[in-house]
Formats: sequence, C-alpha cells, structure tokens
Amino acid sequence: MGTNSAGLQPDYSDQEALSQAFAALSLRCVECAALYAGVEKQPRYRCECGGVLDVETTFQLPWPQEMSLQEGYNALASAENDLMPLAGAGWRQLFDERAARPPIWPVGGGSILLDYSGVWRYRELILPLPPAMIVSRPEGNTGLYPVGIENCGDGRDGHQRIGQFAGVERLFLKHEGENPSGSFKDRGMTVGVSMAKASGARAVACASTGNTSASLASYAAQVGLPCFVFLPAGNVAAGKLAQTLAYGATTISIDGDFDDAMRLVEQACNELGVYLLNSLNPYRIEGQKAIGFELLQQLDWQAPDWLVLPAGNLGNTSAIGKAFLQAHQLGLIGHLPRIASIQASGANPFYRSYMNAFTSRISVQAHTVATAIKIGNPVSYTRARRVIEQTNGIVEEVRDDEILAAKSVIDRAGIGCEPASAATLAGMRKLVERGIIKRDERVVGILTGHLLKDSVTGIPQQPQNAAVAANIDAVRKLLHGFL
Ligand code: F0G
Repeated sequence: MGTNSAGLQPDYSDQEALSQAFAALSLRCVECAALYAGVEKQPRYRCECGGVLDVETTFQLPWPQEMSLQEGYNALASAENDLMPLAGAGWRQLFDERAARPPIWPVGGGSILLDYSGVWRYRELILPLPPAMIVSRPEGNTGLYPVGIENCGDGRDGHQRIGQFAGVERLFLKHEGENPSGSFKDRGMTVGVSMAKASGARAVACASTGNTSASLASYAAQVGLPCFVFLPAGNVAAGKLAQTLAYGATTISIDGDFDDAMRLVEQACNELGVYLLNSLNPYRIEGQKAIGFELLQQLDWQAPDWLVLPAGNLGNTSAIGKAFLQAHQLGLIGHLPRIASIQASGANPFYRSYMNAFTSRISVQAHTVATAIKIGNPVSYTRARRVIEQTNGIVEEVRDDEILAAKSVIDRAGIGCEPASAATLAGMRKLVERGIIKRDERVVGILTGHLLKDSVTGIPQQPQNAAVAANIDAVRKLLHGFL
C-alpha cells in the first residue's frame, strides 16, 4: 500500500480498518439481484449475467441515535414547511455540525479535511473507508444559485431572467462546474480513485467525452497512478482535452464514438488488470450521491419538488436518485423529489425507452452539439430506469437549438455553463410548458460543467480584425455607438 493524499503511510490499524470496511460492502446486480463481495481480487464491474452492480451497505450513525433538544424543537417548529422526520434528526445534526466547522487545513490530515469535502462530509452514507486512505482535493461545496422569478433576490435581473425563461417562481441552480476540475465528475472520482488506491490498483482508465477524463487524470496525478483515457476522436471539447493532457494522462483517441470507446476500455481493463473508473464502477455512483445530500443540506433539508439534470451515460441520474431515496428512508427529508432527466434529441436512447414505458432498451447513433452527452448506449440504463420509476420521475428530450438558447440565458446571467448543462434549463422550460412542472413548485436544476470547458459552442466569437486604433477618438466613437 502506498501513501495517501496527505502523504501519510497507512499503518497496521489502517489495514485492519480497511479489511473491515471492505467486509461491510457488497455488490448487488440490478438485473438479477445476485450478490457479490464488495471487493474481489480482480475488480468486478458486472454480474455474471452482464448486469451492472450497485453498492449495498448498512448505515450507522457514529453515536447512538438520540435527538438533541434543539433538533427536536427545530423539527416541531418546521411544521409550516415539510415536517422533518424525527428519525433523521441525528443524521441532520451530524452533517450540520460538520458543515459548520471552519475549513482550516489540519497540519496532520484527518477528519477536519474530510468534513470540508462536500463528499466525505457525508462519509457514513458514501463509503466507510479509513480516512488515511482517502484521496480528496477536496471537492463539492458548489454554489446553489437562487434564480427563480420569486426567489432570486431584489435587483438580480440577470438571474431572474433564468426563472422567467423556465417559468418557475422558486428555482435554484446547483453549479457542479465549481468542483476542482470543473465538473461533477470529481465527486465520483474522489471515491473511485480512493478505492483504486486502497485495493492496490497499478493503473486506472476510463472512456470519456472529456469531463471524466479530466477528473480522473487529476485524481490519478495526485497519487501518482498511471492513467489511460479512451476518447472519441474529434469529439472532445478543447478545455477538457487540455486538462487531461496537462494532468499527465495518456490519451488513446478511438476512431469511433463514445460508445465504442466505452466498450473497448471495459474489455482492455478486464484483460490487462487496469482499474476502470467509468460510472460502470459502482463506487463512482456512491460519490456522486453527494450532489443530492449537499443540495438537500443547502436547502436546510427541505426537499425540492423536482430535480432536473442532463442525462448521457446515466450515472448521475442513478446517483442522485439513490441519494434521494436513501435520504428519504433515513428520515433526512420528508418527501421524495421527482427526478427529470433531460436528453439531447439526437442522443436520446433513454427518452425513447421511457416513451416505450421501458418495455425495451433502445440504443441510437448519437448526434448533438452537447458533446458531453453524445452517448447512444448508456451504461447505467437499468440503474437510472429504476430511479425514474421509484421517484415518479420523467425523461424529456430537447433539440440542440433549445439547448443553445438556454445556455445563452445562463451565460448572460453571469453564471455560465457548458452546453450539456444547459439541457437542464431547456428541459425544465419544456416541462413547465407541458404543465408537468408547476410554476409554483420548488425546483432545483443541476449545471454539470463549467463554461470554460467548451469555449466555442454557443458562445459569440470576437469578429476577425476587431481591434480599435489605440487612440481615444477611435474608442470614444466606438462607445458612442453603444451608449
Ligand atoms: N453533463 C456533463 C458536463 C457531462 O460531462 C456528462 C457526462 C453529463 C452531463 C451526463 O452525465 O453520464 O452521468 O448521465 N460526461 C461523461 C464524460 C460521459 O465522459 O465526461 P451522465
């Protein structure tokens, strides 16, 4: 076992804690319910039947579950909102105390660093790894922007235009582009790379439309693990490719699309004993659940009515849905939000299957300007289908021109996002127009990636030869034209 992110050598008690942690985990096939050990000598990504796997473990508060007087009072006082279930009081108290601690970097590593991560703050609900084994930047703590017609705050015209565009009074956008590598992938990667390291992987790999590769390359570099990324040639936005190369990953450009790259990386990893870190790896999903926990905490555990997000390989739909279901079961929240997954109409296999009432699983040849979600055969199809069914959710599709119109509204509000993220707002607008999301319901939309990931698509470009002569007369004349 090598060093961890804080440069600490895991000691004997870490090894014991690790064995205990591994023993507490198991993997269940989402197709046939077969059960496997959580960690095997050769990492397992699929069931013998071909189905994908889901992590199962039991959750335990680090102290006996009893409610503080303050929590009891708060629970009763919140009657005008959601009645907060008393069962979840201990969990809310635990996470709120951790979030309230100042983010002071500890000299010797340890739990303060973990509390500041927007993933490991919820560690009992994520993965029971010994702290010394955790690889973290840290990640999460992303902004939640109030941008609805009613809740945007006085004088915030730019933000209010987002609410007007969607037709929603109380709307929040959670910007996962504010993670360390600029996308939500870091939440899954901190868990995935920690598992890779803890289980002794010699190298890591993924297929990617760009964000997964940037994130994996960053976390692998942190611990010095060789990293191989399989990219669909010519279909990765420049910002993501630049990150991946700068962080030192080896890129393998596949003369095919993402689905080809995905098929090949899975085969190569199984044959060569390289640790696979696409969301096929169930531990990535556990990390991405933290998007759900963090946004619920930012809303003081008052669950929204709807959660809207873009959908490609369907890892995020699966993860956030799982987080909401677990939060509801534990009594962290009083009701289950409905989930709306939005696909580009040229890359819509999940939408088509949904329109079939999920009677058959459909694949397509994907085409969309939103390259992050240009995926025709999503790996997490079954996990995500279950989430849509369990949350009384919905799948919608939006055209590329609708995605770009929504992106322009988000960009001009000063928030900005990459094209795939804007599918959230485009889809929300469509669902409001269709009367499915009601104007007065509380809605949270996820922006998945940072504006600078793709600095071309849907962004006005500077005209060629636009330079103005370097004298005040020329500048004055130009500005008069605008003022
Ligand atoms: N938004 C962005 C910015 C993405 O990068 C992705 C996926 C999605 C949405 C879709 O999320 O796959 O969980 O449904 N990007 C992957 C990648 C495929 O390789 O970076 P999903």
